Amino acid sequence: MRILFLTHAFNSLTQRLYAELTARGHQVAIEYDIADSVAEEAVALFRPALIVAPYLRRAIPESIWARHTCLIVHPGIVGDRGPSALDWAIQAGESEWGVTVLQAEAEMDAGPVWASETFPMRAAKKSSLYRVEVTEAATRAVLRAVERFAAGTFAPVPPDPADPAVRGRLRPLMRQTDRRIDWTRETSASVLAKINAADGFPGVADTLFGEPCHLFDACAEATLHGGTPGEVIARRETALLRATVDGAVWIGHVRRAGGIKLPAAQAFATAVAALPEAPLPGPWSAPAATWQDIRYEEAADGGVGFLHFDFYNGAMSTRQCERLRAAYEWARARPTRVIVLMGGADYWSNGIHLNTIEAAEGDNSPADESWANINAIDDLAEAIIRTDAQLTVAALQGNCGAGGCFLARAADLVWARDGVLLNPHYKNMGNLFGSEYWTYLLPPRVGDDGARAIMQNRLPMSARGGVAQGFLDACLAADPAAFRVDVARRAAELAAAPDLAARLRAKREKRAADEAAKPLAQYRAEELEHMRRNFYGFDPSYHVARYHFVHKSPQSWTPRHLAVHRDLGWRVPQ
Ligand code: COA
Repeated sequence: MRILFLTHAFNSLTQRLYAELTARGHQVAIEYDIADSVAEEAVALFRPALIVAPYLRRAIPESIWARHTCLIVHPGIVGDRGPSALDWAIQAGESEWGVTVLQAEAEMDAGPVWASETFPMRAAKKSSLYRVEVTEAATRAVLRAVERFAAGTFAPVPPDPADPAVRGRLRPLMRQTDRRIDWTRETSASVLAKINAADGFPGVADTLFGEPCHLFDACAEATLHGGTPGEVIARRETALLRATVDGAVWIGHVRRAGGIKLPAAQAFATAVAALPEAPLPGPWSAPAATWQDIRYEEAADGGVGFLHFDFYNGAMSTRQCERLRAAYEWARARPTRVIVLMGGADYWSNGIHLNTIEAAEGDNSPADESWANINAIDDLAEAIIRTDAQLTVAALQGNCGAGGCFLARAADLVWARDGVLLNPHYKNMGNLFGSEYWTYLLPPRVGDDGARAIMQNRLPMSARGGVAQGFLDACLAADPAAFRVDVARRAAELAAAPDLAARLRAKREKRAADEAAKPLAQYRAEELEHMRRNFYGFDPSYHVARYHFVHKSPQSWTPRHLAVHRDLGWRVPQ
């Protein structure tokens, strides 16, 4: 079928549905929701059998829905309506939530239901629930709806508000007055629920050190407390600890008025410098719930070490890369036989930290910070590539983008959770050449032509597609908990395998042969020569693209590699 996506952006859910539908043989074209006339033009050019709106922020015009079946993905249970579905569900502490695929009609979110799914709610950030539970449920529901549409026998019906099974209802846009935190009265649980419900966007409007800002990325603290409620009492790396009436919560990220979202300690660097540091009790592990971006644990028999790095949005700043390398070197020195790089629950890595780079000022320009960041991530990749006493595994629980994909590929094996998406290319960021040793790591996996295609096509790769193309080594369970169990079991098997010593010997010999053929330093120097031009050369494309990405500039057109119906040679197949 020809399926047109009308969407606000090619975000992770849209990418997932794109990957799933194209893998089933459908032809999918994408048009961003820029103006009614642009959407009408896309429909006229592509002549789709079906229109799907995975992520739309406003209504589809009547000129389109009156003539075509349009399926809207709504992140709420059947009957739920309105633009803040997940926000209300999190704040209200719902124990179960869902996704409904409904047909667009005059009244928003009130049309006939083609499919729906439910899932148990997790105490987590809205952005995390969206990337995991909502995405999985939406994928199942959209695939079922598309099958039903193709079969032509399904008659969708609108939800009946009188039916007791229909629990959802119309709720308004959640406003900042609904999100407001009263620090003098609210418990840590209440503060966490409010910041979680606003995570990603729009954040909770508040003040810190007397300055207005929006709060994001909250984390529970089990043992530390003190100060008067609302007071910032300590810092740890990028996060701030703020007292509540019954304890304290960590604030990881903030957006100051007129600014961009930044690690809290960076956004308020001067005020934060006076705060006491609250170090972790152990080097890379903490016994109780607290803020900890890098965490190490070891299997009971000591054979496998697991290094977790849960960096907000998968972005890795210069300092985070340096700290992670220190943790990695520490893990390497342990008497383990396998090291598993677990990344974070939502993202494994999205490469260098574009917001921190954008915020660089004074003597350290964004170009300088880009240079420092790419070198720091390269140092980390090199440490992984040169590991010779252990087998290394990158276990992708969440998505991976740009340099993060090649950082993962620096490990001997890359295992991905089914449903994870990779964007192993850099061109979308102003034609960046990229580094992280991709010129060394990618061609042996997918061939020279395959590497060129991946870099040029700029399209997402599903976990299954990644295995088929040779980029990944295995696609494991879709359920996050089952995936972690599977990873631990497979890693233990690797560590206990009788041929481990032979495998490690072969690994050392291959590295030595590769080094003799062309030293790693040369790959790096060649890549960085291109990157130097990207950062410091006369073509400002990277700086312009980064500015628009970080400031979330509205899209003014759909990239041609997505809007295939706008290709010059495009003809509707007869
Ligand atoms: N640096 C800083 N922030 C980043 C980031 C990065 N490298 N990659 C993603 N983010 C942030 C986004 O700004 C967004 O922030 P928000 O919480 O304020 O909305 C959040 O992560 C989620 O990103 P989004 O684009 O909405 O997620 P997605 O899962 O739909 O898309 C990518 C994932 C990887 C395709 C997309 O984020 C991307 O292109 N990132 C840039 C990758 C890159 O070019 N890195 C630099 C070169 S190594």
